[in-house]
This record gives sequence, structure tokens and C-alpha cells, in this order.
Amino acid sequence: MTLDVSDMWGLAGKSIVVMGAGGGGIGSAICRHLGNAGATIVAADIDADKLAICTDDLEANGISHIGLLADGRDKDAVADVVERACSLAPLRGSVQVAGGMWPPQWAPFVSEDAAFDDVMALNFGSTVNTVRAVGRKLVEQGNGGSIVNIATVSALNAMPYGSAYAAAKAAVLSLTRSLAVEWGSRQIRLNAVAPGSIATPKSASTRKPGDTDGNDLEVIPMRRRGTSDDIASAVLFMMSDLANYVTGQVLCVDGGTSIRPAVNDRDELPVFVHNEELRARLADW
Ligand SMILES: NC(=O)c1ccc[n+]([C@@H]2O[C@H](COP(=O)([O-])OP(=O)(O)OC[C@H]3O[C@@H](n4cnc5c(N)ncnc54)[C@H](O)[C@@H]3O)[C@@H](O)[C@H]2O)c1
Repeated sequence: MTLDVSDMWGLAGKSIVVMGAGGGGIGSAICRHLGNAGATIVAADIDADKLAICTDDLEANGISHIGLLADGRDKDAVADVVERACSLAPLRGSVQVAGGMWPPQWAPFVSEDAAFDDVMALNFGSTVNTVRAVGRKLVEQGNGGSIVNIATVSALNAMPYGSAYAAAKAAVLSLTRSLAVEWGSRQIRLNAVAPGSIATPKSASTRKPGDTDGNDLEVIPMRRRGTSDDIASAVLFMMSDLANYVTGQVLCVDGGTSIRPAVNDRDELPVFVHNEELRARLADW
């Protein structure tokens, strides 16, 4: 098969729902990338001010879009968003971005105020609602489609004091795999993108004022935090025809964090290598 590079993405003239599009972080970058590839963007968010950051950007970039206020945890509201998307253009699919955890929700598992249910409802519940509403329409349309869920690398290992968040995102990965099989024969693909540490306006909430990188760089082999555009590029690939035979997969976009050996020290040498001569030789290249 020869790849037609005049439209590598196959997204032109299709509508895509982005749930959690606002705030100028990952969702907003995803909208811009998918819009630049020709899709009509249905940007949905619970927060009007954050939504406006996204829609102003899409407007400035001449991208076909509408912005809708909606709570991803409310399945009727989500169904309305999907109906609006279908009224604009054939539905290609959706990206579930709404999620995260705020500093007051970090807590020891044993404490009373571990906001387990709230974190699950946002990170897993809103994904279930959106994927189900979009999946129903894609099945009805009968032309396949593509769905991308935003997870986190913490879903693959552990997140002390944030166990609800890691568990919810792990559930998102499990749902992604199960539906990839369930809907495979309908040519509806589901994949997940798992970000590492990404510098977004939201992620500044756990940091000291003015501190953008913290100690993160020590555990990131590429020695930089990711950008929202790094995540959006991976989502664009997964949504597009370039990934036509990819389903049920998790793509970690984390500068190598998830594959870094836990035994490495800050020089990226194993903690058990104490011999100074050996350390010097390994570092000299
Ligand atoms: N920033 C990171 O380092 C990082 C790392 C791993 C995973 N992630 C994931 O990436 C996603 C986006 O992260 P971000 O840093 O851009 O966060 P963000 O808070 O800036 O973006 C999330 C958007 O979702 C919206 N939202 C929240 N609740 C909603 C609801 N109930 N219904 C609809 N919209 C809702 C928010 O208003 C916001 O605009 C999240 O799912 C997060 O868990 C982020």
C-alpha cells in the first residue's frame, strides 16, 4: 500500500470530541494538533474560563470548532456533547483528558479525607461516560473510529498518597484494552497515552511558586519535563490513520521515566556500583 502523504492523518472533515479541553494544558494542545490536521474540534470542559483559553486559541489558529460546557461525570451532558459533534460532521472519535488530582486530595490511604470516590469519579467515571457515548455513535455510524484515553505512567507502577488516582488511571487502561477487543471487529480502535511529568498550568499546583522543574529531572532520563505538545503529538498519531492497525496499546510519553531502572542513582549508574575507578570510566564518554 502506498501512503497518501497529502492527508496522512485521515481526520479532515471529521469531528472529534475532546473532554477536558480547557486550561491551556494537555487538552488544549490536543485540540490544536487535531484541528491543524483538519478535524472539527468539539471542545468540552466543566470550567467556562478554562474552556475559553482553548477556544480562543482555536479561533486564533483558524481551526473549525465549538466549545461546550459539560461535566464529564454527567452522562446526559456527555451524550448532548456527542450529539452536537455528530451534527457538525461524521464522528471520528474522542480524547478523554478530564482528570487529575489536586493537592487537597493527596492523602494517606488510611485517612478519612482520602477523596477516593471523587478522584475515581473524575478520572475513571468521566472516561466511562464519554467512551460509552462516543462508542455507541461510532457503532451506529458503522465506519470505525478512534478513541484515545489520557492515563499516566503512575498507572503502570505505584503512586503513594495518590493511590486513588493511580487506580483510576489503571482502570482506564484496563477499559481501553477490553473495549479494543470488544469493538475490534467494528474497526473502532482504542489506545491510551500515558504522560510522565508534563509542565502544564495545572501541574504547577503541587510546586513551590516559581519552581517549574522540582526534583523531577533526576528521574527523567531525557533530563527535561515534557510539554503539552509532546502529549498532543502522540495523541495525533493514535487518532490518525497512521495508527490504523494499532489498538489496545499504551504509549508512554515520559522522556524514559517508566523504563528507568529503579536502582539507578542520579548519575544514571546503579546504586551498587561503588568502585570509583569503574564509576569514572562509565561516566567518561
Ligand atoms: N500534567 C502532568 O504532569 C500529567 C501527568 C500525567 C497525566 N496527566 C493527565 O493529563 C490530563 C490533563 O492534565 P493537565 O495537567 O493538562 O490538567 P488540567 O487540569 O489543566 O486539564 C484538565 C481539564 O479538564 C477539565 N475538567 C476537570 N474536571 C472536569 C469534568 N468533570 N468534566 C469536564 N472537564 C473537566 C478542567 O477544567 C481542565 O480544563 C489529566 O487527565 C491528567 O491526569 C497529566
